[in-house]
Amino acid sequence: MKIFIDSADLEEIKTGISWGIVDGVTTNPSLIKKAIEKYGKGNFSMEDYIKELLRVAGRLRPVSLEVVSADTKNMVIEGEVLYTKFNYVANNVVIKIPINPNIGAGNNFDGLLAAKELKNRGIPVNITLVMTAEQAILAGKIGADYVSPFIGRIDDFLRTNANLPFKKSDYYSEEGVYIGDKLLEDNGVVSGVHMLSMIKEIFENYRFNTKIIAASVRNARQVREVALLGCDIATVPFSVLEDLIIHPKTEEGMKNFIKDVEEEYKKIFEKGV
Ligand code: G3P
Repeated sequence: MKIFIDSADLEEIKTGISWGIVDGVTTNPSLIKKAIEKYGKGNFSMEDYIKELLRVAGRLRPVSLEVVSADTKNMVIEGEVLYTKFNYVANNVVIKIPINPNIGAGNNFDGLLAAKELKNRGIPVNITLVMTAEQAILAGKIGADYVSPFIGRIDDFLRTNANLPFKKSDYYSEEGVYIGDKLLEDNGVVSGVHMLSMIKEIFENYRFNTKIIAASVRNARQVREVALLGCDIATVPFSVLEDLIIHPKTEEGMKNFIKDVEEEYKKIFEKGV
């Protein structure tokens, strides 16, 4: 499984890449806002920042950049602008398009139409804000390069609907959560990972080439769960990337090994090769 970093923070991206475990980057307007606020708005141009981000990611790591409009015409224009302005830097730009940009007055299918048009123009697309397997089928049908189901937000939806208090990083069982003998579910979906498993199965049924990116991943255990499903990619925040390597028994074992090292054994290294 490939691991992408879900961040627009240059330091986080550089560090993840330096660890040798990051295969790509996903951004969205909220992540860009967070990064820009961290480094000080006005200290640099947004265009220069994005170019640097693409350079840091490098030629072999796709970077998703999102459009901000909610109608086909403008999403296509923005996708073209992002691709033309930035893809030359490292040939790694993917345009992120919301599956359904309609927030009241628009057309539910404008995102798919924009994605299809960008694909026709040879521009790779990542269909985002996917919250159901049904939406993912549509992304597969138009031949999107990537589809991003938001697993954590589905867990949030289920626990919020049930008035369960939670922190963003709290684990939510892939098998679902019971209150008494009632399993929390929404339209047959019991967790974000469950939704992803459905998408994986459907894509295999129809041999869709669209790569599935598990997005909105909140903890290390979910990375394991989506890997077990055979998900193509998990995009994870920096904190989850860090957590992937932590276990108290590893730390304890390391301390014991260091404590037990024989003086004579140490001397082997002092002499060198
Ligand atoms: O990749 C999507 C992601 O940025 C959303 O994550 O944790 O805000 O639901 P989250």
